[in-house]
Amino acid sequence: MMINDLMEKVISLCKRRGFIFQSSEIYGGLANTWDYGPLGVELKNNVKRSWWRKVVYERDDIFGMDAAILMHPKVWETSGHLKNFFDLKSDCRSCKRRFKTQDLKDPQRCPDCGGQLTEGRPFNLMFETRLGVIEEESLVVYLRPETAQGMFVNFLNILDTKHPKLPFGLAQIGKAFRNEITPGNFIFRTREFEQMEIEYFVHPKEAEDRYQEWIEERFKWYIELGIKRENLRRRAHGKDELAHYAFACTDIEYNFPFGWQELEGIANRTDFDLRKHSEMSNKDMRLFDEISKEKFYPYIIEPSGGVDRSVLAFLIDAYYEEKVKDDIRVVLRLHPSLSPIKIAVLPLLKNRAELVEIAKKITWDLKKKFFTVYDDTAAIGKLYRRQDEIGTPFCVTVDVQSLEDKKVTVRDRDTMEQRRVGMDKLKDYFFDLLCV
Ligand code: GAP
Repeated sequence: MMINDLMEKVISLCKRRGFIFQSSEIYGGLANTWDYGPLGVELKNNVKRSWWRKVVYERDDIFGMDAAILMHPKVWETSGHLKNFFDLKSDCRSCKRRFKTQDLKDPQRCPDCGGQLTEGRPFNLMFETRLGVIEEESLVVYLRPETAQGMFVNFLNILDTKHPKLPFGLAQIGKAFRNEITPGNFIFRTREFEQMEIEYFVHPKEAEDRYQEWIEERFKWYIELGIKRENLRRRAHGKDELAHYAFACTDIEYNFPFGWQELEGIANRTDFDLRKHSEMSNKDMRLFDEISKEKFYPYIIEPSGGVDRSVLAFLIDAYYEEKVKDDIRVVLRLHPSLSPIKIAVLPLLKNRAELVEIAKKITWDLKKKFFTVYDDTAAIGKLYRRQDEIGTPFCVTVDVQSLEDKKVTVRDRDTMEQRRVGMDKLKDYFFDLLCV
């Protein structure tokens, strides 16, 4: 399969089967904005749930949070985003197209029409809006470009309510907005996206060790969820690439069809954020060191990933086309915990009322534990293919023999193996396979 092909095939599957649609399509679409459909929202929620389970539920040192998208504008002044969060843009004087200066091979010439480009000019990436109904009195506020700041400004609230000891962290999933100069590659780079961020507060002396630990911890998460090892790599940032707040940063990159690109960044933000917010707000965010008997600002290690980018990587990595007899089978080998639908129940003959009744009863019973669907709208071979294509790990078929032996056929998506399982054992059977 050609690699460009792979991207096109995934995008086409997403639209055809209801994972992802272009936003506002009936009005011609809004460029680079996407809506998640019935299957896409399940996949995306499963990615977020897996992350939350790993970093909040399976640890005892990280608390969850959900801060507002709109924040006091002083936050962005203090964080340095108003001053430093920009890209350089170059405009073509002839065709008027706009480019990110750092992406240009020749900063003078338009890569599209060969026209003269303007000098690179700073372009702040934050979206501005106004809070309040009276124009003159309204306050300019920003749609957050990262969820991180919502956690920093709640640092004292967490100390007061949870009384944690270092090291401890905060975790948050939420929307972020950036007026990107060159969005593109489907859901890879958009202007509205979701982040999954951890702010992990540590003693400055421990910062380097914790930074290294988090790089490994986050790398493992993608592999545990099925991404192939050879499609992932770590890449340390050069000093000239670092964000204004970072002392060090390592990206976890995925080998997308359009090249190696960042999935997640793990940064050592030092004491930059807590120190700045303390100074600006006059609220002391220092902790007391029992050994040195001095106050200090904790350092922050920040693993920051994109939900949409992970969704894209999981889709691409799971996409397979296989020859089965004379047919091509498309199968999404998603990790079962990410699959939108876990089980499809299919009666072998839809004109046999007893089979339909049993199949529907099994569906309703399994639905209480796993997202299960019933389908009888085609012949069994076609129904299997439909479920393979959307990554459903198991199909349950009710046939005539089921009336006798009270067993059903369970078919495995990846191996296509079939085995008979007692109807009364189904829930336990799937519990072992799906609750991983
Ligand atoms: N708080 C740190 C921070 O925001 P970042 O590297 O700018 O760091 C973190 O963003 C992650 O957010 C990226 O690794 C990426 O997965 C995701 N992300 C950033 N910009 C994005 C965009 N325009 N579209 C989709 N995802 C984006």
